[in-house]
Amino acid sequence: MTKKSSIYSCNNCSYQTIKWLGCCPDCQRFDTIKLIPAKAVGQAIPAALSDLSTITLEPTKRMLTGIKEWDRVTGGGIVPGSFSILTGDPGIGKSTLLLHIAQQLANTYKVFYFSSEESLEQVKSRAERLHIQAQKLLFSDDPNLESLLATCIQEKPAVVIIDSIQNCYITDSPALSGSIGQLKEAAFKLMRMAKENRIAIIASGHITKEGVMAGPKTLEHLVDAVFYLQGEDRWQTRVLRSVKNRFGTVCELGFFSMEEHGLKEMPNINEHLLEELSHNPGSVLISFIEGSRPLLIELQALVLQSKYGIPQRVVSGIDHTQVVLIAAILEKYLHIKFGTHDIFFKISGSFKIKSASADLGIALALLSSYFQKPLPEKSLILGEVSLTGQIKPINQMTVHAAEAEKFGIQRLILAQNQKVDTSCKTLKFSHVYELVTLFSE
Ligand code: TYD
Ligand code: MG
Repeated sequence: MTKKSSIYSCNNCSYQTIKWLGCCPDCQRFDTIKLIPAKAVGQAIPAALSDLSTITLEPTKRMLTGIKEWDRVTGGGIVPGSFSILTGDPGIGKSTLLLHIAQQLANTYKVFYFSSEESLEQVKSRAERLHIQAQKLLFSDDPNLESLLATCIQEKPAVVIIDSIQNCYITDSPALSGSIGQLKEAAFKLMRMAKENRIAIIASGHITKEGVMAGPKTLEHLVDAVFYLQGEDRWQTRVLRSVKNRFGTVCELGFFSMEEHGLKEMPNINEHLLEELSHNPGSVLISFIEGSRPLLIELQALVLQSKYGIPQRVVSGIDHTQVVLIAAILEKYLHIKFGTHDIFFKISGSFKIKSASADLGIALALLSSYFQKPLPEKSLILGEVSLTGQIKPINQMTVHAAEAEKFGIQRLILAQNQKVDTSCKTLKFSHVYELVTLFSE
C-alpha cells in the first residue's frame, strides 16, 4: 500500500506546512492556510528518459528589434520561447519601452500586446504620442491569465507582451488575487506556455519601495531574463540593465533618453558623461568596462582637515575599503596625513563601480583634492596600485585606449610597464611616490 500524505499551504505566500495553522508563520496572515491533498507517492507517471544523441538542436534565431540599446542588453535579441521580465519604478518608462519593442517586432513577427494594467484607450493615446502605427500589432486589455494563455496557444504568436504580470489574475487559483502565491502561479503557467509553444514572453513587473521586484525576487528565479529600467536624473536618461540573462551576459547596459515622443536611444553615452566633466581639483576621469562597453566615469574626491577627533570617510558608488586602502598606501609612501583629514568620495551619475583598474584614479583624485590642484586637462587614468605602492598595468587596455581616442582624450596616465598602442600622450609612473610630481609645479 502506498503512503498518502497531505500538506497545507498558505494561499497568500505559498508557505507549506504539514499541519494546519491559524496564522501563517511566513506572511503573518490569518486563515490563509488550506489543505492540499498531495498525490500518493507511487501514483505519478514515471518521467521519460533519453540520451542526448536523440535530441536535435534547433538553431536559435534571435528576434531583433533594431533598437540597438535593447538588442545589446538582451544579448543579441530575444530568444524564441524565452520568458523575460522588464522591471523598474512606476513611471520610469516600462510601458513606453514595451510599446516601442512590440512595434518593432511586429514588422517581422506576430506580436500580441496584453495591457492588463491599462485600457485600450490609454494604450492608444500612448501609441499616438509615440507616433506608432501599429496595424500589425494586436492588443487586448483582458487581465485574465487563462484567457491570455488560451489565446496564445490557439493563435501561436511569436511574441507576447504583458504589461504588467502583477495585474493578471487567475480565476480558479487557490491563492488570493494579487498575492505572491498567485504571481508565482502566473509566472509558472506563462513559463510553461512559452516553452511548450516557443512563444517569447516579455512581461513588465512592478518594483517595491525597497527596490526589489514585488514578490521578494520570486519571479527572478523563475524567468529566463530580468531587465531593470532605472532613472538617471540628470539628463532624463534611462538606463536598461540586465541583471539575469540565461541567453546573454549580465551587467550589460543600454541608455535611452525620455523625450516628448518616447524613448530615444543614446548610443554615445560617453559624450554626455564627458560634457559634465569638470576640470577642478579632486576630479579625475577613469574608464570602466560594464558589460561589453567602456564607460568614461568621473571620480570626485574631497579631502579636508577634520574638525572632530575621528576623521570621516564617506564613500558612495565604489567600495569603501578600496578608497580607504588607497588612502592608507598614499599616507605610508607620501607621508600625507590623511589621518587628520575627512575624505568624501563619489562617482558621477548613479553608477556603481567595482574594479581594481580604478586604483590609480582614486589615488590621483585624493591627491588632487589634497593639494588643491587639478590634473592636466583631458586625462584618462588607468592603473592598479599594489599594497607596496607599485603601479601595475591593467587588462583590456586596447578597448580603453580606443574609447579615449574616440572622445578626444589627450593624455593617458598609466603604469610604467603598461603596453598600449595609442595616439594619445602617455604619462607613466611605476610607484605612487612619483605621483606628487604631477602637483609639484
Ligand atoms: P510609462 O511608460 O507609462 O512608465 P511605466 O510603465 O514604467 O509606469 O511612462 C511614464 C512616464 O513617461 C510619464 O511620466 C510620461 C513620460 N512619457 C514621456 O515623457 N514621453 C512619452 O512619449 C511617453 C509615452 C511618456
Ligand atoms: Mg506602465
